[in-house]
Amino acid sequence: MGDTNGLPERDRYGSLLDHEYDGIREYDNPTPGWWHFLFIGSIVFSVIYAGMMHLSTESKWFPIDRWTKAKIEYDRLLFGDLPENMEANEANLLWFMASDGFMSVGAGVFATNCAQCHAGDGGGINGPNLTDDHYINVKQLADFYDVVSDGVVVKGMPAWDKRLSHNERLVVAAYVATLRGTTPAAGEAPKGDEIAAFPDVPEETDEPPAGG
Ligand code: HEC
Repeated sequence: MGDTNGLPERDRYGSLLDHEYDGIREYDNPTPGWWHFLFIGSIVFSVIYAGMMHLSTESKWFPIDRWTKAKIEYDRLLFGDLPENMEANEANLLWFMASDGFMSVGAGVFATNCAQCHAGDGGGINGPNLTDDHYINVKQLADFYDVVSDGVVVKGMPAWDKRLSHNERLVVAAYVATLRGTTPAAGEAPKGDEIAAFPDVPEETDEPPAGG
């Protein structure tokens, strides 16, 4: 240790180092322990994290798999024991339309995914009015499911077959059909052709029609 220029040999800044350049002295100031802890800790964490997220076959770590699991559980809550492959035919759509429970599920799907274009009450914004007797793509009840699934992409109606499950599309197709004949707060002018009335909605029953 050389001259400390009147400074104590060791104080809270650490001890003076031995070298001197043009009269400038330097304290030995090691980075603190907590800093080392964070530095090394973050390296260790990154190795574990990368291993878990990119190499692990344990799918519970992947957000997409956790989401899929949650979605399956959610569908089960909404649709209970309904078969996953119910046909989108007229009888089944009418069966859904008769069910208050499923129509409130359909209203939820509609509010989340459709109302931004068709308005909350179906009166239409940049998507057509779904409450009048005129339709562009629909000729009969069963067409709703196809329009919803495939969309009319060039006209701005998205295809929902990748975003909504089969049952969600069934239930929202049936819900949209129940909007026909209702009175929206502000309805867009009718578009397309006037089509024949849908068959009457039957009494509500617990089981879907046979052959569904
Ligand atoms: C981004 C805007 C947009 C969203 C979101 C949207 N639609 Fe549409 N929809 C349209 C447009 C635009 C058309 C008209 C297509 C055409 O001109 O052929 C349409 C047409 C339809 C039709 C056919 C109407 C007819 O006259 O033939 C149905 C049924 C329908 N949408 C239901 C839905 C449902 C159900 C959802 C939600 C799952 C939905 N739409 C979400 C824009 C949208």
